[in-house]
Amino acid sequence: MGYDLQKVPAQALPHTTYQEYLDKDRHEPARSLREVGNTDLGTEDVDKRRYIDRDWYDQEKKIWDHVWQVACREEHIPEAGDFHVYDIGTRSYLVVRQDDGGIKAYPNACLHRGRKLRLESGHVEKFRCPFHGFTWNLDGEIAHVPCEWDFPQVQKDEFHLPEIHVGTFAGWVFINPDPDPMSLEQFLDPIWRHYEPYAWDQSYLGVHAGKVLRGNWKIIQEAFMEAFHSLDTHPQILGSVDDFGCQYDVWEGKPHVNRMMAAFAVPSSYVVDQVSEQDVLDEWMGRKWDDAEKIILQDHETARTKTADLKREQTEAQLGYKVPELSDAELVDGWYYVVFPNFMLWGGFGPNMWYRFRPWNDSHEETLMEVGYIMRHPKDQPKPAPMPMIMLDINTKWDSVEALGGLGFVLDQDTTNMAAVHDGLKASFKPGVTLASYQEKRIRHFHQTLDMYVERFANG
Ligand code: FES
Ligand SMILES: [Fe+2]
Repeated sequence: MGYDLQKVPAQALPHTTYQEYLDKDRHEPARSLREVGNTDLGTEDVDKRRYIDRDWYDQEKKIWDHVWQVACREEHIPEAGDFHVYDIGTRSYLVVRQDDGGIKAYPNACLHRGRKLRLESGHVEKFRCPFHGFTWNLDGEIAHVPCEWDFPQVQKDEFHLPEIHVGTFAGWVFINPDPDPMSLEQFLDPIWRHYEPYAWDQSYLGVHAGKVLRGNWKIIQEAFMEAFHSLDTHPQILGSVDDFGCQYDVWEGKPHVNRMMAAFAVPSSYVVDQVSEQDVLDEWMGRKWDDAEKIILQDHETARTKTADLKREQTEAQLGYKVPELSDAELVDGWYYVVFPNFMLWGGFGPNMWYRFRPWNDSHEETLMEVGYIMRHPKDQPKPAPMPMIMLDINTKWDSVEALGGLGFVLDQDTTNMAAVHDGLKASFKPGVTLASYQEKRIRHFHQTLDMYVERFANG
């Protein structure tokens, strides 16, 4: 439905805060939802060169050698010998399932003359380089040196593939090429603890789509760090998503994770006087389930309680989980965690949307954006195979990916801004971008952490 948005005032509207939604919840929400992160990060402009300047990019890209980053899902490599090729900038890694069930990672480069050992993910008994046949076992030990007599300098007990640090969290496989990284658990603080209640051992990659977009990777991902843009970019959702009452959390001493939480199946305060509870439900259901039969609210129900009740029933029927102890917020709302430098994951019971953003072909002007859902699978059943990535070309809409549901359309709206921001920054005579002190503080937080890494590792 169309809303009258002409009277948005300069001062903050009276609105329901996310904590007030939690106060009204019929169940006690998880403690993590009460952890408000109010760190004040200031109001300084962010230098635009970090988005458009190649020299800046060349310094920045050194951070990838020193951060934990998502390489793949565990279900991409279920069996010993399964491996995944993970590329970032000019780096490439092999992430390999071991005979003992563990995971190791190596730079994807032969120790003879440097050929990439594999160009695509797959399965091997051993890694035999296609160029001259140097061969390594799954655990990185050298297995075969061709014409060994001709390599007197090669000590076989030292000719291992160099090992990169690996960690897993909630089914995601992270790597960190730094020789002495902080623990993944510390890096992900507080997200690790926040995710514990949500059956992560029964989750899998249910939806995965990607597209190469024009624009610096930070421009692309920053489109998902605030909900402030909904007013102009997604006006159709204002009747059933309270993007204005969104809570933005940045916690003191936690540089790698921040959070945004939005109440769903409630109207934004921009349009609260323009909709009934039934309108809210209709809009919410219409967007998620196009062919859903219209559900009429009873007097004791609101759009939000009804949505939560349906989710409870659906979860129990489809997955065999009983989730009465979860609050409505944990079943209905959108909580979006940013994990520095380039990963985002929704919280709660799920399905959980996720995003990853990588410079494409080592370009500061093109980005591979991936998006998908982590789903729960029925209890006590084997993990389904991950959905192979649907790679869209630049002119194909996200909305063409049926599995994204109504979100494809929303992503297409987001996408319309991205190249225009990159080009606009190049056209601009203004040296920096001016961020909202609250609603855009996650972007500022990201840049402050980026600065910390760039200062530490650039010129090195
Ligand atoms: S480059 Fe790999 S065997 Fe020669
Ligand atoms: Fe958006």
